[in-house]
Amino acid sequence: EELLQLAEAMPKAELHLHIEGSLEPELVFQLAERNGVKLAYSSVDALRAAYAFNNLQEFLDVYYAGMSVLLKEQDFYDLTWAYLNRVHQDHVVHVEIFFDPQAHLERGIPLDVQISGIRRALEQGQAELGISFRLILSFLRHLSEDSALETLELARPFYDQLDGFGLDSSEQGHPPEKFARVFARCKELGFRITVHAGEEGPPDYVYQALDQLQVDRIDHGNRSMEDEVLVQRLVGAGLTLTVCPLSNLKLCVVKDMAQHPILSMLKKGLKATVNSDDPAYFGGYVNDNYRALIQHLPVTRDHLYQLARNAFEGAWISDDEKEAHINELN
Ligand code: ADE
Ligand code: ZN
Repeated sequence: EELLQLAEAMPKAELHLHIEGSLEPELVFQLAERNGVKLAYSSVDALRAAYAFNNLQEFLDVYYAGMSVLLKEQDFYDLTWAYLNRVHQDHVVHVEIFFDPQAHLERGIPLDVQISGIRRALEQGQAELGISFRLILSFLRHLSEDSALETLELARPFYDQLDGFGLDSSEQGHPPEKFARVFARCKELGFRITVHAGEEGPPDYVYQALDQLQVDRIDHGNRSMEDEVLVQRLVGAGLTLTVCPLSNLKLCVVKDMAQHPILSMLKKGLKATVNSDDPAYFGGYVNDNYRALIQHLPVTRDHLYQLARNAFEGAWISDDEKEAHINELN
């Protein structure tokens, strides 16, 4: 109880959040009505009932269908503004969010519509809620590297509105090495990169992310725990892992929360952090993720501080900003 209060009240950073995954069923229906989009579900409850997944792909199918209601700049704004107001309640003070432009380009939504709506909300969140932000363009790994390269080229007019690049979607069969050229180009352009690796994919995909992409962070990284040499490399490099407990539970990456590896990760010296991934689909925002950990694992005060500190240390902000946030924790 006391731990839960501490976790809830701590100022926090969220580093692994797909903005399209914060699309709540209520907003899906509101936007469908506003945009005249026909849905395959008759009610909010019917849609929510479809949120049961056995693996990543089953979730992704529902996730890409859900975002079909996002058409206008205002829709991207409303989505992002709803997320910021929600996490403000959780005492989140810094967010680094992904968006999936290829999923919208495929539906004919121009990149400037997407970026402008998302950023208008982010800037308002900074001004009115005091939430600082970074925006990360994430490539879809089930598509080709050429499609990612095209998207990177299309984003050229917006490079000053982007802070980094990511890689998400179906992991198995789409290893990081498939995108070696595109991420080399991102690095040449001076961007930071972070890729989903070791969520469902093997430890080898995490090695590839390190050796072939030179990533600055790893998203998830759970399966690194199967390889002690890899763990020691990640520890040595001080690489941040953006771990997502409720996501891992809902996508059956872990059998139950009591078996979640996050405390073992901390014990080994890995810089694990707590994130919500796709909160509308996985049953909760950042504080809900902390609550689940506290309920099912022997979490201590020190663990909570460590997790919160890791997130600020792994954030793409200046050392002074990191220090200021970390001082607020103590
Ligand atoms: N896209 C949105 N959430 C994702 C996740 N957890 N893994 C891979 N791709 C995603
Ligand atoms: Zn993710």
